[in-house]
Amino acid sequence: MKNISEIRIDAASKISGEEQYVRDLQIDDLLYAKTIRSTRAHAKIDSIHFDEDFNWESFTIITAKDVPNNYVAIIKNDMPYLAHETVNYIGEPIVLIAAEKKQMLREAEKHIAIIYEELKTSLTIDETLTKDDKKDIFAEISLVDGDFEKAAVDAEYIIEETYETGLQEHVYIEPQCVVAIPEDNTIHIKGSMQCPYYVQNAMNELFKGTETKVDVTQIMTGGAFGGKEDFPSLICGHVALLAQKAQKPVMLSFDREEDIRYTTKRHPSKIHMKAAVDNDGTIQGLNVDILLDSGAYTTLSPVVLARAVLTSFGCYRLQNVIVRGRAVKTNIPPCGAFRGFGGPQALFAIEMLIEKIAHSLSEPVWDIKKRNLLSMGDVLPTGQPIDYSFGLPQCIEKVLISSKYFEKLKEFSDYNKNSNGILKGVGISLAAHGAGFTGVGENTIQAIAEMEVLTEGKVVIKTANTEMGQGVDTAYKIIVSKRLNIPFEDIVIEEKNTSKVPNSGPTVASRSTMIVGKLLVDNCDKILEKLDLSAREHTPDEFKQKALSFVEKNGNIVVRTQYKHPDFISFDEKTYKGYGYPVYSWSANVAEIEIDLTSYQVEVKKFYTAHDVGKTINRQQSEGQIQGGVLQGIGYGIYEEMRIKDGEIENRGFRDYIIPTIKDIPKVHVDIVEDEYFNGPFGAKALGELPLVGAAPAVASAVSFAMKKPVKKIPLTPEVIASMIEEKDYEY
Ligand code: MTE
Ligand code: MOS
Repeated sequence: MKNISEIRIDAASKISGEEQYVRDLQIDDLLYAKTIRSTRAHAKIDSIHFDEDFNWESFTIITAKDVPNNYVAIIKNDMPYLAHETVNYIGEPIVLIAAEKKQMLREAEKHIAIIYEELKTSLTIDETLTKDDKKDIFAEISLVDGDFEKAAVDAEYIIEETYETGLQEHVYIEPQCVVAIPEDNTIHIKGSMQCPYYVQNAMNELFKGTETKVDVTQIMTGGAFGGKEDFPSLICGHVALLAQKAQKPVMLSFDREEDIRYTTKRHPSKIHMKAAVDNDGTIQGLNVDILLDSGAYTTLSPVVLARAVLTSFGCYRLQNVIVRGRAVKTNIPPCGAFRGFGGPQALFAIEMLIEKIAHSLSEPVWDIKKRNLLSMGDVLPTGQPIDYSFGLPQCIEKVLISSKYFEKLKEFSDYNKNSNGILKGVGISLAAHGAGFTGVGENTIQAIAEMEVLTEGKVVIKTANTEMGQGVDTAYKIIVSKRLNIPFEDIVIEEKNTSKVPNSGPTVASRSTMIVGKLLVDNCDKILEKLDLSAREHTPDEFKQKALSFVEKNGNIVVRTQYKHPDFISFDEKTYKGYGYPVYSWSANVAEIEIDLTSYQVEVKKFYTAHDVGKTINRQQSEGQIQGGVLQGIGYGIYEEMRIKDGEIENRGFRDYIIPTIKDIPKVHVDIVEDEYFNGPFGAKALGELPLVGAAPAVASAVSFAMKKPVKKIPLTPEVIASMIEEKDYEY
């Protein structure tokens, strides 16, 4: 057998162009759809006019009154499929039209007029908070541990700051695209998406009380990063409604501009941190106030906020902690899931607070980190003990060696003394990512994975977890191949169709390998037991022979396993006490940067990182996740800026939304630490999001070193660097 850890099963079909994405599907009689959107950030819809002189015969048209249950089912159900009486953001869908040619749609759009009555807008967190209206707070969390007030009185110093982070766009390669195909009273939905069962549930709600049935298939997805987690439910509803009315297949395919302006983004944040600090730099108390800008509707804000709250501790030993988190409504497009889910915002804040403490005490940053560092046996402010799978110390050791951090500190500070034109910086960050859903979320989902052994001896893996470039299909094949000791050729991955695979939960929160991968291991063990084989002690041929004769006698073997947390894991949603996550993955990161004092451009020259992922299932793929995530985090830290003017996203494409390109990619040195998690497949825990989380703070730490000033906001665009030099506050 080939070394299975080097195989990537979707590589050849993607590189050769054979892979079929939604736009590649050959569908007869296809109609194309277009969304007519609000041009107001907040307004009452007075009336919608369809020009009487225009020939509407060959168009299918849907407005709010045609929608049976007009809410997208997800957490709070406050977002309509089509705006009815009011619009809450620029770009909100109001009318849907479908026709045979896209050109016809562009023409028809000119003949639809929407009359508005303007309402007062609230475009920033601050504006909303001054209104003091409870309805505008989509979610609120508070956590108290110990007595912060007392710690503040006793402490030598109070060190505080407000940190800000901006919107971030997912920039998946494939813009949103979905299609609905009617057949009798069933609508088959196919789309580029992360969570076929989210869409299935949303469609069940949408058509509740009607005859219409829906099934959902994920088609190979060209990147998602959270952007295809909640959003596809909205547009799948759109095509389903049109297809139902037209009784023809309908496709909605966004171009890049539409995708950038009207799909979900990462929540901007404003986080105030206040630390009570001893004169040796020990943090005796921490008060955190997290504000997330949710945009116009709730979407996934409560979960994004939960992760922000639980990530705000960083990797530090804390006591006397208060965290208050609020997700706030504004009249900008709704924000949603994005790799890290509130974690990158909160980790940036806590890491920059540590920088500020170091600057205030004139101590090296690393000394302050080390003094407050979390270690084995410590307890988090939630009460969760850190007592297994804690590879942070090894990550730190590895990254300090690979980066030669301490030597660089000296070298760069000498360089900067004589430099004219360029400042060099080196910075360090420590990051944690809770693996899987927050709290007892995984017990609510109760993920199921199924496997079937067929007559030919082939083994079929049935899960709802989707391939979006992160490599889950390959990871699952490796897990099953190893456990059953059978070759890749004998393993089949079932199509991600809701009528064929069970609900294994969504492909989010870096949960697929750890949670569902473990269910596959358990399924393998059930199969082995039926065949009277024990793991690893048989040859692939023995497996095949036993399987064939068993199936011949008894029919296909079907096994299922449902996830449940280990018994000791509990979490109280009200007090935020208990296990925030079943386990954490850890990373340590060092960035080397240069700042050009003519252009004020920051450039990342080298990046070193070590990740504790429990166990790698496929090393090459793990390194790929880390390289890519780091790069997306670097973009978040220095390049990616979305501008909103009067509620309208101004960015139109890659000319004005700058992401790192091949020329900006630094050399990324990756080390992997394997501190196994007892409840993951072969010890594996989460990996998908963590690489992004620690990257921006490492870069910001390096900028802070070079400029001898703490950083307060990202992205660190030339304008922000200029304002730091001029000691002015830069407004986005
Ligand atoms: N990697 C690629 N190539 N493409 C993606 O869309 N999404 C990220 C991460 N890595 C993503 C990716 C996000 S947001 C998550 S939650 C995880 O992959 C989900 O996959 P996993 O559960 O298999 O880790
Ligand atoms: Mo990832 S943001 O959890 O899809």
